[in-house]
Amino acid sequence: MTLKKLIESRYSVRAYLPQPVEKEKVEYVLECARLAPSANNFQPWRFIVITSPERVKGIYKAYDREWFKTAPMHIVVCKDSSESWKRTNSDDKDFGDIDAAIAAEHICLAAAEIGLGTCWVCNFNPNILKQALRLPEHQDPIAIFPLGYIDEAKNLIPEKKRKSLSDLTEWI
Ligand SMILES: Cc1cc2nc3c(=O)[nH]c(=O)nc-3n(C[C@H](O)[C@H](O)[C@H](O)COP(=O)(O)O)c2cc1C
Repeated sequence: MTLKKLIESRYSVRAYLPQPVEKEKVEYVLECARLAPSANNFQPWRFIVITSPERVKGIYKAYDREWFKTAPMHIVVCKDSSESWKRTNSDDKDFGDIDAAIAAEHICLAAAEIGLGTCWVCNFNPNILKQALRLPEHQDPIAIFPLGYIDEAKNLIPEKKRKSLSDLTEWI
């Protein structure tokens, strides 16, 4: 499959089958995240894989949606601001969120490649999530990814609504 076809085929999956995801598939997805580029190659990320019914309750409190609970597992991508690169020559910008987002999108594309569904979820309560995961002060969750086999009957594959390239691009 070409990269473009893979990108076209990925969509936000909001209904999953209960069947668990094989460990090697989860590891494949995580390996693709691990190989992501990052500013100065500092790799300021952490991937928290949640499969236990006990621990998942904490993340439901942070993002309480019925569809989210259909996934058999979740991956939380965190950035570690004690490890991220800062642009100290001018504005001290912290690139940790950008780095973690690149790794996170690798998760989505890798999952799509091997026939699994995911959805970016950022509309969670960060304080509740941080507490539930017992994250130290310098680690922040940037997104939660439900991961699982797609319940095809309940997901309508959406039309890709995107702005046109001419509206987004300037050739100078
Ligand atoms: C940074 C980010 C945060 C998002 N947060 C949520 C969210 O909290 N809940 C949700 O249902 N979808 C969330 N989405 C999914 C978007 O709504 C979705 O990607 C967008 O509508 C395009 O649809 P598609 O992914 O099917 O192509 C998020 C996507 C991104 C990139």
